[in-house]
Amino acid sequence: MHSNPIQQREFCFTDAHFKRVKTVLYAHAGILLADNKQDMAYNRLVRRIRELNLQNFDQYLEDIESDIGEFSQFINAMTTNLTAFFRESHHFDFISKTIIPQVALSGKRRLRIWSAGCSLGEEPYSLAMTLLSSGQDISNWDVRILATDIDSDVLNKARLGVYPQDRVGVLPKGYLPKFFLKGKGCSAGNVQVGAELMEMITFKYLNLMEQWPLKGPFDFIFCRNVMIYFDKNTQRKLLERMAALLKPDGYLFVGHSEALARHDSHFKLIGKTIYQKDSQGGR
Ligand SMILES: C[S@@+](CC[C@H](N)C(=O)[O-])C[C@H]1O[C@@H](n2cnc3c(N)ncnc32)[C@H](O)[C@@H]1O
Repeated sequence: MHSNPIQQREFCFTDAHFKRVKTVLYAHAGILLADNKQDMAYNRLVRRIRELNLQNFDQYLEDIESDIGEFSQFINAMTTNLTAFFRESHHFDFISKTIIPQVALSGKRRLRIWSAGCSLGEEPYSLAMTLLSSGQDISNWDVRILATDIDSDVLNKARLGVYPQDRVGVLPKGYLPKFFLKGKGCSAGNVQVGAELMEMITFKYLNLMEQWPLKGPFDFIFCRNVMIYFDKNTQRKLLERMAALLKPDGYLFVGHSEALARHDSHFKLIGKTIYQKDSQGGR
């Protein structure tokens, strides 16, 4: 059903405007915006129109379509960044109970990890805490976590590693004093990630729709609650590219509602939303 522009709105936002937003977002970021997200798109973009002192959505969309500097702000406004420390905690249990012991047994002492679509950083910091708390002494291991996102705002916040106290309530017992510094004075109420975690992680801008300047191979990839915004064809291509960047027995972790198609030949399901690269997968 087509909705008419709602007159109570401060700026007119028609179906045609919404279609233009959808087209640009899909073309650049692969994000497929459902038809019922028109209000959401208005609310997210109207702030930019006010900040830029523009008169209407036509002006704004012309700026976006001709890419005159507003483009990254548009993408930042339109991404959904919901995340949390230790979200889907069974993934972190699998890492400490299965992956770390496997690496220790192999004697390799080297781990390369990619958090693709890392948002505000809770995911890669949770990974770092998991590695440091697995019971295995990894102080002499060569461990690197690459954390990437298309949204430059969330990346800047992730690099700072400052979180309100209420975000860290979910941390396992003892992690807060061990890995975070408590804010004082004007930072009271916030905590900051300590140097030990920061040093394990590199945050970088990376659009999954473009070239990936990554060498790999990775021991495992977290790409959770990201592919849900893409269509099937895009998901299929991404899975193929991720499989190529994983070690032969590497793992892929996806979000709770992102189960891979049964016939995906690159991965086999080995746990709840945990996949292992299937080198025999008939490619
Ligand atoms: C809902 S968050 C998920 C965060 C985290 N992985 C988790 O599960 O808690 C999705 C993230 O994917 C990012 N994203 C969306 N499209 C992207 C793209 N084309 N390339 C890279 N990141 C993208 C968004 O900016 C957002 O930060």
